[in-house]
Amino acid sequence: MILFKKATDLRKWVDAQSKKGNSIAFVPTMGALHAGHISLIDAASKENQVTISSIFVNPTQFNDLKDFEKYPITIEKDIEMLEAAGCNVLFLPSVKEIYPEGIKPEMQYELGYIETILEGKFRPGHFQGVCMVVHRLLDIVQPDNLYLGQKDYQQCMVISKLVELINQQDTIKVNICPTLREKDGLAMSSRNMRLNEDERKLAAIIYRCLSYIKEHTGKQSVNDIKKQTQSMLEEAGLRVDYVEIAEAKHLSPITTWDEKEKAVALIAAFMNEVRLIDNMLLN
Ligand code: PAF
Repeated sequence: MILFKKATDLRKWVDAQSKKGNSIAFVPTMGALHAGHISLIDAASKENQVTISSIFVNPTQFNDLKDFEKYPITIEKDIEMLEAAGCNVLFLPSVKEIYPEGIKPEMQYELGYIETILEGKFRPGHFQGVCMVVHRLLDIVQPDNLYLGQKDYQQCMVISKLVELINQQDTIKVNICPTLREKDGLAMSSRNMRLNEDERKLAAIIYRCLSYIKEHTGKQSVNDIKKQTQSMLEEAGLRVDYVEIAEAKHLSPITTWDEKEKAVALIAAFMNEVRLIDNMLLN
């Protein structure tokens, strides 16, 4: 695996690969890699000649400074995992390399409704930060295929919108890969590393709640299911940001079931200091 720290060096290398007719896959990450990330590398490598991953803990997407400071960093292990998975290139830039003109906090991407709800509402500015970094990374890498995990359902929608806003929808295909789960159902996440053993066990309630919602879809009122789920999470000791059942395409909340409409359940909750999110398609 080749490691690049400078954007211009990576750009030159990718140019040469594209000229050879090789298709370029890109898997952006913030490191602290787990099997979920590796499944993205696997999908990328199967479908492309060249797989590039990046590790950059992006300061502009953290609305909570504590969350940024405590974000797990396991770079040596990450490099080993990427190499073992057959990733061709790792881009490991500095903050200066990503934001050469400094971090400009003003809002600049017209994301519309999607930014006003759920993660957008509870983490103000988060998606602007995601767009800033992903825009810059896409400019540097110029991939044919971008791979993202469904665990960050709303982020997948935001990045797909970003690709349209920067007019790259005909050149960059966004591929969304399924969430990987631990044996007890807990969605794999870098933040799980911050949970102690007891918290880790309790956190599996999020998956059980999503499964509960799925089982009761169409059988009980949306409102009753949401209330019941919220109580289950609180009883397990989690602090709930939201339990939402929304239409899967645009994420507008659903109030009554409609068999013909694809729906998704989404949960965000704190297990003590650690904020966890997960989602499940319902039909
Ligand atoms: O999902 C993540 O790890 C990050 O939000 C991303 C897409 C790498 C941007 O920093």
